[in-house]
Amino acid sequence: MMRYEFVLRKVATAPSDFQPMLILGIETSCDDTSLALYSVRDGVLDMVTASQVIHDDYGGVVPEIASRQHMQAMLPVYHELIRRNDITVKDIGGIGVTHGPGLVGSLLVGVGFAKALAYATGIPAVGVHHIEAHVLSNELEGESLQYPCVVLIVSGGHSQLFHCAAPRQYELVGNTRDDAAGEAFDKIAKLLGLGYPGGPALQALASSGDPKAFDFPRAMKTRNIDFSFSGLKTAVRLCIEKYAEIDDTVRANVAASAQEAIVDVLTDKTIRCARSHTVKHVYLAGGVAANGPLRERLQSACAANGMTYHAPLLKYCMDNGAMIARTALVDLSAGIDDARTLNVFARGILRTR
Ligand code: KG4
Ligand code: ZN
Repeated sequence: MMRYEFVLRKVATAPSDFQPMLILGIETSCDDTSLALYSVRDGVLDMVTASQVIHDDYGGVVPEIASRQHMQAMLPVYHELIRRNDITVKDIGGIGVTHGPGLVGSLLVGVGFAKALAYATGIPAVGVHHIEAHVLSNELEGESLQYPCVVLIVSGGHSQLFHCAAPRQYELVGNTRDDAAGEAFDKIAKLLGLGYPGGPALQALASSGDPKAFDFPRAMKTRNIDFSFSGLKTAVRLCIEKYAEIDDTVRANVAASAQEAIVDVLTDKTIRCARSHTVKHVYLAGGVAANGPLRERLQSACAANGMTYHAPLLKYCMDNGAMIARTALVDLSAGIDDARTLNVFARGILRTR
């Protein structure tokens, strides 16, 4: 299998005079057009997000439709953000834009917009790695990450465990072997006839079910800290197929038991990873970090193991422009401006050499 890596550039340690007081963050890697303003002094000022509901008709994100929807949403979202904060483009000191990983057509809309704005105004712009932004979404409420730490990133495209010895030191120590956690939620939700995205709908259905009703597989639970969710999806499908007709109670029980299996594996592996790296700080991030049972379970497991736990506010779990602006601050403050050379990439594991 091809291995794609994205090696973070080393940020110059020499102090830069440049302090971008207000940063515009732009996120278009999948199906959310999200723009935010981040003040270096006050944190997140505002965020406007256009979420694409059209994909529900197709049971998943259709890349070609997603990029067209970003094209339609970009200017209205930008103007809304500027108008309601009573600022002009001249007030923006720096631009951060997701340049990967993600859907190339969608990324191009954000990057194209960022570059056009940068060319026209001279505002510096930097590309942001989407996964690093999820990690730093934990800093959007003002507190800096504590190191060394372990971060569990769980989204529609990723289930990854990072060991971070210091800021911007990302060591990938656990990864999915097949489906990502969010993908598992979405596919199981689809089997249960729920809409897209399936995660929130599955959580809602599971709340009235019995998590012990079905004993679904926990792949590689004790063996390593990689993840595998495709066996769970198959087990759920086979379970559903046994019923000629599936009533609401069984549906809720299947949802609750499947969610339990995912939460169980994610929590267990994160704690084992933190223990094996003798780390005391654990962070959660990504769309699946919005899952209530996962948040509760990981929090109590951390407390039981003498570890601190932190997860972003729900609005910062899903893809958002605020985390992009926050992450861009690092490179912008170092005086970096990539406006002329920025390009997009579909895949690339976040790594620091
Ligand atoms: O981070 P994100 O917004 O986009 C990607 O970068 O992929 O994550 C989206 C994923 C979807 O798979 C969605 O079903 C899942 O996050 N998700 C949830 C919940 N809210 C969103 N999964 C489980 N429980 C939730 N409450
Ligand atoms: Zn994401």
